[in-house]
Amino acid sequence: MYSRIAGTGRYLPERILTNQDLEKMVDTTDEWIRDRTGIERRHIAAATQTTADLAEQAARRAMEAAGVTPADIDFIVVGTTTPDVVFPNVGCLLQERLGIHGCAAFSVEAACSGFIYALSIADRFVATGQARCALVIGAETLSRITDWSDRTTCVLFGDGAGAVVLKPADEPGIVSCHLGADGRYKDLLYHPYGPSRCPGPVFGDDAGAFIHMKGNEVFKVAVKTLEGLVEEALGANNLEHAAIDWLIPHQANLRIIQATARRLDMPMERVVLTLQDHGNTSAASIPMALDVAVRDGRVKRGDLLLLEGFGGGFTWGACLIRF
Ligand code: COA
Repeated sequence: MYSRIAGTGRYLPERILTNQDLEKMVDTTDEWIRDRTGIERRHIAAATQTTADLAEQAARRAMEAAGVTPADIDFIVVGTTTPDVVFPNVGCLLQERLGIHGCAAFSVEAACSGFIYALSIADRFVATGQARCALVIGAETLSRITDWSDRTTCVLFGDGAGAVVLKPADEPGIVSCHLGADGRYKDLLYHPYGPSRCPGPVFGDDAGAFIHMKGNEVFKVAVKTLEGLVEEALGANNLEHAAIDWLIPHQANLRIIQATARRLDMPMERVVLTLQDHGNTSAASIPMALDVAVRDGRVKRGDLLLLEGFGGGFTWGACLIRF
């Protein structure tokens, strides 16, 4: 048995912050941001909106597209690094909102690879018959951990959520998933604090409770790792580059995406690009990009998709999918 994607959905908060808006907040220009990243605008959650709110909207749209109701859902996994609270996890918060009870509901913390990690877990449960209708979500409110006075990071990030419904199938579906991580790079991209490591005398001075990143170094490792990852996914299935119909990458930086596409000999017309509209939304970006391409008719049933992501940790992952 296999799992297949039965429906997709996404949600972006209403408020838009453009590059021109950022020019008024920090020493930057629209031209610099577009040239170096490809980003034009990002969406920012309202003060009262949390990650679970965004996740709920995306989940409801994915369920509608799949023709299922909350009562059908028997497994919930959410990729997020910006949960509402430490616990209950976002999956449980979502379960309560959907009015369903009893099924497994949890979140996976793997930064920008969170959705790929979540999808690979849900795939195993559905493919082995332990779940029959899984809700897989990537949802983030990165604006809450972004330093809006730091031009080197604040131009990059935004909020959003994407979701898919997975159901059993006789044929793949999810063809294969490939996950990896390397904690040696923990200091290149991180948030310094959590419940167990607080600012103060024990752990050192207050480094600022925001995303910290050595952008240049992240860039180099990301490009190199993603090159190896896409080759691994294709090699494991004896597939040539040309077999891929659509590359659906994590939407962090246009130049990283272009480098991966070049490695696959893939024209940019076959790469789904949405980062211009919402920036880097971490775990939410891949399912949102998938939903955009499904709803605008580019991705069709039977197409072979390569989803890939890379993020803090470092973590990375790819899923090869027959849609
Ligand atoms: N506006 C204007 N200038 C800026 C700027 C901004 N928003 N941010 C940085 N700069 C300046 C720097 O201060 C530096 O100035 P200097 O040369 O006078 O010192 C110059 O631009 C170049 O900075 P650098 O960091 O080398 O630029 P870059 O080409 O590497 O681009 C990133 C920066 C962040 C866009 C790029 O490194 C990147 O995208 N990295 C990967 C980040 C990522 O994807 N992270 C998430 C992974 S999931």
